[in-house]
This record gives sequence, C-alpha cells and structure tokens, in this order.
Amino acid sequence: MLNKIGIIGGGFIGGVLVQEVVTRRLARNVGFMDPAPFVNPNDPPEKQAVAEKQSVSKGKALDISEGLPIIGRDVTIEAAKDYSVLKGAELVISTAGVPRKARPDGTFPSREELLTTNLRITRQVARGIKEYCPDAIVINVANPLDAIVYTLNKELRPPKNKLMGMAGVLDSTRYRYFVSQAANVSVEDVNALVLGGHGDTMVPVRSSCQIAGIPVAKFVDDETLGAIEARTRKAGGEVVGLLGFGSAFASPAWAALEMAEAIIYDKRKILACSAYCEGEYGIKGLFVGVPVILGKNGVEKVLEIDLTDDERAALAKSVAAVKKTSGEAEELLKKL
Ligand code: LAC
Repeated sequence: MLNKIGIIGGGFIGGVLVQEVVTRRLARNVGFMDPAPFVNPNDPPEKQAVAEKQSVSKGKALDISEGLPIIGRDVTIEAAKDYSVLKGAELVISTAGVPRKARPDGTFPSREELLTTNLRITRQVARGIKEYCPDAIVINVANPLDAIVYTLNKELRPPKNKLMGMAGVLDSTRYRYFVSQAANVSVEDVNALVLGGHGDTMVPVRSSCQIAGIPVAKFVDDETLGAIEARTRKAGGEVVGLLGFGSAFASPAWAALEMAEAIIYDKRKILACSAYCEGEYGIKGLFVGVPVILGKNGVEKVLEIDLTDDERAALAKSVAAVKKTSGEAEELLKKL
C-alpha cells in the first residue's frame, strides 16, 4: 500500500480509478484533481459564482467517501480544482485531456486543434507534478497516448523508468477477450501482447498469443484471427460509437491499475506499455508500446521479443506513425 496516489482528471476513467484505488486498498491517501467546471469570465456573475463552487473531483470524492463505511475502507480522498492535492504523491495516474466530441453547432475540432488543447493541458499537468510530487512515478492515460507521454517527458525530464503510458495493456486485454470468445475458453487462459502506437497501426502480436501456453493457431483459424486483430485495432472507436458520449472507461482504468499494482507490489509483471526506447526494436528517443517488466522502480526493463518479419514490418510502420504525431506535438508545443 502506498501512502498517496494522485489521480489527475475527474472524468469517467478518473472516477473509476479513485473508486478502485479505494476498494483495492492501494493507498491510504488519494489526491484527486480536476479543474472542471471552469468559470467563464463572460458569464453573468451569478453563473460564475455557481461554477466557482462546483467541482467534479470534489463531488466524486465526497460521493465515494460517504460510501467508505459500507465497504470498510479508511482512505482520505482530497479533491481540488488545482494541483496542490498531488502533494507528496508517490504514483500519479493522469487522464487529463479532452476527448474529440461535437461542438454545439455539430462540427468537430480537427485533430490538430484537439492536440493543441491537450498539449496545453499536458503542460499544466507537468507543472503540477514538478511542483507537488517531482519524484512520483507517472502513468499517462490521456490521448493521443504516445505523443502525450513524449510531451510529458520533454516537460518533466524524469528518469526514463519513471514515466510511461497505458495503452498496450488495454489493447492486449481487448485482443485477449476477443480470442477467448472465439476459442470459447476462459479469459484467464489467453495471453497476448499488442505493441506499437495506440492507434490504428497498433500491432497485435499473433506469434506471442497463447492459450494456456499453447499457440493460439491451435484454437482459432487464420481468418478469424485476422478479423480479431482488425477489430482490436479499432476497439476504442467501437466503444465510442456505441456510447455516444465519450470513450471507454472501465477497461482503461483497470488497465492502468494493473500497471499501478505491478509497481506498488513490485510484481515485475511483463506488460505492454508505452515506454522510452533507446534502440530497442530500432526505436530511438520515442515512447512506443513495447513489452516491459514493471516493478517498484517503474519500467525495470524493456524486453525485446522475437517477432515474425510481418510483425516487425508492422511495428516499424506503427513507430513511424508515433514519430509523426510526437514530432507534430513537439512543433505545436513550441508555439504554445
Ligand atoms: C481507448 C481510449 C481510452 O482506446 O484510449 O478506448
């Protein structure tokens, strides 16, 4: 159990994170930060006064705290609209960013507009961490995942083991789930890794997918596996399309918590995470989804596994996509 975990962002993922941190007894204290709702200086004073008093994180924190006697947990949840509640956190999970949703007039912000907004938020996140918990291990969940981790790295300059992104665990659990359904076996028996960037170019690694240690091809035919891999690459969007109000939140939160638990309990668990690469798989100076050992120091080691030629080529393509977005982020950041 840690003394303190910081959760940045009080949206759907942030809410599940706080709830689970409490239920799983991962920390005695939780610092929960979300700036919403914002006070609009153009609003009439009465409306501004209402927004001033409201707080998404305080509301969720109070709701969860009031339920603590029922579940028997003595946890202090400190919530605020500023970063001061992160003070002393040993581990921070950041979900801070805005999703791509329609404006009131029905138009959508461009990818660049969205990236610019999320980079501004990321800079604030970095400043908050620097000021209140500079030694924390940081797991980023916000999108575009790999570019946001890259940006946090530029702004924070932490030791490379202490910063990582959550995407591979989520993409891998989706792949594992689909395979378990196709093979009609327990979800617990399916092992798989999805590597590369968290986007359409991600690489479900069929050669490392096993069911109870047996190659997946013994259970599921080629065509079905191809369809499962295509579905995995688009799985985030599939949920967005169904929900209509935002993105997936339960499985992303559980995925981030699997990483957090590996670190808190020094499990040395092998998970696909967006980690800083220094030549592994030919990747240099970028955060990309690769298999790592996660333990008490964060990323203990990046593992280089054998890939087929096709998988290696697909990974190179995905790395090129991550490099492009990370480069765009770097250019946009200079203008902010
Ligand atoms: C997804 C978002 C959370 O893949 O990244 O659903």
